Amino acid sequence: MASLKVMRALTFALLLLLAIHFNQAEIIDGEEETDRFCYPENSKNSRRSCECSNVSASPWGMRALRIDCSYKDFKVKDLSLVLPLYIDSLDLSWNGLDSVPIFASDSLHQLNLRHNNISKVIAGNFKQLTSLRELYLGWNSIAQLEANSFEGLPHLQVLDLAHNNLHSLPSQLFAPLLVLGSLDISWNRRFNESGGDLYTGLGVNWKLATLRLDACSLTELHLPVSAPLKELSLRRNQLKRIPSQLPESLLRLDISDNLLEELLPQDTANLTQVRQLFVEDMSLLQSVVAQALASVDLLETLSFQNSRQLTHFDAQAFGVISSVSIKKKALRSLSFRGTMLRSFNSTLAPLFNQLTELDLNGLPLQCDCELVWLKQLPYQTNGRCYKPNRIRGMLVTSARGDAFSCDTWPRWAYGLVVLSLIALSAVGIYLIVMGLRPHRGVTMRRKVGAGSPYARVTIEPNRQENPH
Ligand SMILES: *[C@@H]1O[C@H](CO)[C@@H](O)[C@H](O)[C@H]1NC(C)=O
Ligand SMILES: *[C@@H]1O[C@H](CO)[C@@H](O)[C@H](O)[C@H]1NC(C)=O
Ligand SMILES: *[C@@H]1O[C@H](CO)[C@@H](O)[C@H](O)[C@H]1NC(C)=O
Ligand SMILES: *[C@@H]1O[C@H](CO)[C@@H](O)[C@H](O)[C@H]1NC(C)=O
Ligand SMILES: *[C@@H]1O[C@H](CO)[C@@H](O)[C@H](O)[C@H]1NC(C)=O
Repeated sequence: MASLKVMRALTFALLLLLAIHFNQAEIIDGEEETDRFCYPENSKNSRRSCECSNVSASPWGMRALRIDCSYKDFKVKDLSLVLPLYIDSLDLSWNGLDSVPIFASDSLHQLNLRHNNISKVIAGNFKQLTSLRELYLGWNSIAQLEANSFEGLPHLQVLDLAHNNLHSLPSQLFAPLLVLGSLDISWNRRFNESGGDLYTGLGVNWKLATLRLDACSLTELHLPVSAPLKELSLRRNQLKRIPSQLPESLLRLDISDNLLEELLPQDTANLTQVRQLFVEDMSLLQSVVAQALASVDLLETLSFQNSRQLTHFDAQAFGVISSVSIKKKALRSLSFRGTMLRSFNSTLAPLFNQLTELDLNGLPLQCDCELVWLKQLPYQTNGRCYKPNRIRGMLVTSARGDAFSCDTWPRWAYGLVVLSLIALSAVGIYLIVMGLRPHRGVTMRRKVGAGSPYARVTIEPNRQENPH
């Protein structure tokens, strides 16, 4: 009995020793690999060696190695493809890679290949990186992604393909990415040619939360209404309307720098959950019509910044504002910075009053009696008066209230008055002149007395010559 116990204890001790030994061997191996990767033989003591540092990434304090090889001018042949143990992140941005190295590691979480010269990704390129969570391939010149380029990446959450040359993509390309949460395809200027059918055609994970499609030359877009997408960026495309078919769950939409000329009620009708809406840098947008923003009750942040043609913001853009409807509005931050709006109807006052931020920088405000209510807002807007001239450039808040006056007569009436005054005085002067002008015969005789040197001298020749 006792011997059995001793035997058991011995075996346990032996196993423990073995385990420790094995662990040490592993660590030593790990060191060698680290050295081989961080300080390669052919570039020892040169600026081409990478920066390797320990981080304690996981909550259990496990070792995690972060390797930064950015800006080293590396080609694929310079790199060891077996990555060190415990490697957590590898930064190879700003090198001269012209293809994606086929790395192997089961611990790597983050791989950054931005700013290289990669033009193609081949099938199974990442399938030995089974733990990869984030993959950055932006700022290359990738034109070709083979089918199955992303196979073997069941944990990938973030994929960046921005600033490449993607156009036609193999169907179901993204299907292996089962938990993809964020996808960036911005600045692929020919992406409009891919058909744009991201979910059913390209197999994007249904639960995707963030999608960026900036500068993809899109003229239209249809996304499934029931997809649980939260953030969508469509900056700098060629959209003339906000796409009517977008996921209902959207919380943040950026539609800036598109070709809308007016913001209409139908543009926002289906954006019932949106909290942040960006309508910035719209080079053609001129007006926001009545009811255009009536249905977006949950909206908290709205920006028209830098939409330089915007001259009309309707009094009822947010619908008819009543004491009941105003309580439903969640809006807190509103920016018109850099637009051409000259005035705001005072019916907007209750809404503007409940904001915490209103940016009126750079507006050519017409500071008259219609706008005097703006002085009462409980925060600084940085709005400055453009008209009238005597308070030009002054902050709305610091200009005196009585300077915000309205001419009771319209401008043309002043003109008319001045004109008629001129006409009247012309007539008056004419009459006076006519009145003063000497009337032939009569006036002369009256004015010139007999004693005057100009008096008429009557010479009677008969008498002179014949005094008799
Ligand atoms: C990381 O930590 C291990 C052990 O904790 C140590 O042996 C190794 O030298 C460290 N590596 C670097 C690059 O600091
Ligand atoms: C990038 O790759 C192309 C061919 O794909 C090549 O012509 C070009 O020289 C490469 N540029 C650099 C900086 O390596
Ligand atoms: C995609 O956009 C480019 C550039 O605007 C345009 O020339 C091309 O016709 C568009 N293609 C499709 C299919 O819309
Ligand atoms: C809102 O979405 C529904 C369902 O996709 C669509 O039928 C409708 O036309 C959209 N409404 C507007 C105003 O575009
Ligand atoms: C302000 O809006 C109301 C309601 O739309 C309208 O009746 C009024 O004329 C507007 N005022 C100005 C100065 O445009």
